[in-house]
Amino acid sequence: MRALVIGASGQVGGALCEALAGGGHAVVGTHGRVPAPGTVPLDFTDAAAAERLIVETRPDWIFCAAALTNVDYCEDHPRAAERLNRDAPAAAARIAVRIGAGFVFYSTEYVFDGTAGPYAEDDPPKPLSVYGRTKWEAEQAVREAAPRCAIARTTVVYGPERQEKNFVYQLLRRCRAGESVRVPVDQVSSPTYNADLAAASVELAERGLTGVWHLAGTSVMDRYAFARLAASVFGLDAAGIVPVSTESLGQRAPRPLRGGLAVERAGRALATPLRSAREGLEAMRNAIAPPGKLR
Ligand SMILES: NC(=O)c1ccc[n+]([C@@H]2O[C@H](COP(=O)([O-])OP(=O)(O)OC[C@H]3O[C@@H](n4cnc5c(N)ncnc54)[C@H](OP(=O)(O)O)[C@@H]3O)[C@@H](O)[C@H]2O)c1
Repeated sequence: MRALVIGASGQVGGALCEALAGGGHAVVGTHGRVPAPGTVPLDFTDAAAAERLIVETRPDWIFCAAALTNVDYCEDHPRAAERLNRDAPAAAARIAVRIGAGFVFYSTEYVFDGTAGPYAEDDPPKPLSVYGRTKWEAEQAVREAAPRCAIARTTVVYGPERQEKNFVYQLLRRCRAGESVRVPVDQVSSPTYNADLAAASVELAERGLTGVWHLAGTSVMDRYAFARLAASVFGLDAAGIVPVSTESLGQRAPRPLRGGLAVERAGRALATPLRSAREGLEAMRNAIAPPGKLR
């Protein structure tokens, strides 16, 4: 296929470009502020620019990973979150229909309120935050615009990443520097290895599978347990990892606490395996070479 990855400079988009290229597909990827090798610039909030790029690229599938992902920033800037997280994907989905392309939209566990996880695809969303609301509104707008679309919900994505900003990189840097890290013990989720998410998304497009999919790791665990597991897999001293309550962190946006994504649907339908947290962390450790490269 010819694929257009909007947000290729991010963690998910970067892994996606690798999976697509590895599968023999032609890829055009975009960046916002931080170019990655071979990406083209796109301000996704500029509807005319997005339309031009999509029409010129003529993709068979569009993978829409660009988003305002800072949950607390979104809480304070709802209009910016609506424009990038909801309005831009909705507009791109309409153009996808016009040119006959399929559309994969990345969404989040944060569409749920975190009272009864892990959640299945047909559990009713009830977002707590502006970020979660804008992603949920986008899901609905994209599905309404584009029948040939897949909504890929994921959460706590980690793995090798060009910008090295995901939770595991941050944790490893702090542990190596001997600094303490306060990690919430009451946020339960499904840590997701980015290469698995990417490979599963490519499989959705290759097989033309549509609808809502939970693409996440198979381990449902709290953030503190995940941090300790990461330290152990990377052979680091976990003494500085301090369990705290989410409330004590004073974050702007409320977080779903008892969350997690049930992945049985993907497990049954997809050939791509979704790994446990330990397997994913071991794969990340093996992929990051040499280990001294971590800042
Ligand atoms: N990471 C997670 O744990 C997680 C969890 C649940 C759902 N998701 C969803 O997965 C998707 C990808 O997340 P991610 O972790 O890859 O996020 P990320 O690393 O923050 O990447 C976001 C991407 O969006 C681009 N972008 C931001 N503002 C833009 C703008 N105005 N115009 C064009 N591009 C813009 C960024 O470009 P530059 O960096 O070049 O500016 C980057 O390529 C998002 O839809 C997110 O909601 C992620």
